Amino acid sequence: MKIEGSVALVTGANRGLGQVFARELVQRGAARVYGSARTPAAVTEPGVTPIGLDITDPEQVASAARQCADVSLLVNNAGVLSYQTFTSAPDLSGARLEMETNYFGTLSMCRAFAPVLAANGGGAIVNMLSVTSFYTNPFNASYGASKAAGWSLTNGVRLELHHQGTLVVGVHAGFIDTDMAALVDLPKDRPESVAQQVFDGVEAGQAEVLCDERTRTIKAELSRDQELIYPAVQKFWDDAIKGSG
Ligand SMILES: NC(=O)c1ccc[n+]([C@@H]2O[C@H](COP(=O)([O-])OP(=O)(O)OC[C@H]3O[C@@H](n4cnc5c(N)ncnc54)[C@H](OP(=O)(O)O)[C@@H]3O)[C@@H](O)[C@H]2O)c1
Repeated sequence: MKIEGSVALVTGANRGLGQVFARELVQRGAARVYGSARTPAAVTEPGVTPIGLDITDPEQVASAARQCADVSLLVNNAGVLSYQTFTSAPDLSGARLEMETNYFGTLSMCRAFAPVLAANGGGAIVNMLSVTSFYTNPFNASYGASKAAGWSLTNGVRLELHHQGTLVVGVHAGFIDTDMAALVDLPKDRPESVAQQVFDGVEAGQAEVLCDERTRTIKAELSRDQELIYPAVQKFWDDAIKGSG
């Protein structure tokens, strides 16, 4: 689909990647860009219309779908990362928040906006996922589980909405230079690079956008993950445990 002239909604548009997505859409000539946030006054990007929306609140999601009935491009960007392991996290609150936001919140948005997109000619959904959709790392284990669920959701929604002409794009990336990855001292993608690749992918009709070399390598190695991916993750984690002990 063409971005120019489209009407877009970006969730989590008050900061980080969501703000950059909204900026890129304005620059590419979208007719209207709604930027949603839990605190709408925090959406300050020029040319973006603020909308109040917590994606985990079903009433707010339904209200956003009524308020933004002209949307043809939905960008499910909002997400959380708790940096927790499966077995040593103090409780399940981080894992539940990640599942509630990254999986159920995104699912809820896809369900509410599917009829809106159908009424507006099909359009597109972009789901912001992660390289951790593809493999588990104890460093952010429960987050990876929520993004793996999001990957499955994305593939399923694509199948279900094909008949109405909706393109459903899964975006996978390694670390991106935003607040979410502020504690990480490893190479990071620029949010501008991610946004450009995503909307080039939407315009080209791609089902999937893999934003960096590491993500492309991991996806290519999936069929041999126990040989090619997990030994290095295991060594990294065993060294981290030894270092912390
Ligand atoms: N940064 C990375 O390394 C990285 C890598 C791969 C994928 N991603 C994904 O990229 C997306 C954007 O992340 P980011 O890096 O920009 O993170 P970020 O800087 O932490 O921003 C997260 C955004 O999501 C919003 N949000 C969280 N929970 C929400 C909820 N319940 N309802 C509505 N909005 C909510 C936040 O709003 P508040 O300001 O109200 O908290 C904020 O706008 C996420 O889906 C993330 O998982 C990030």
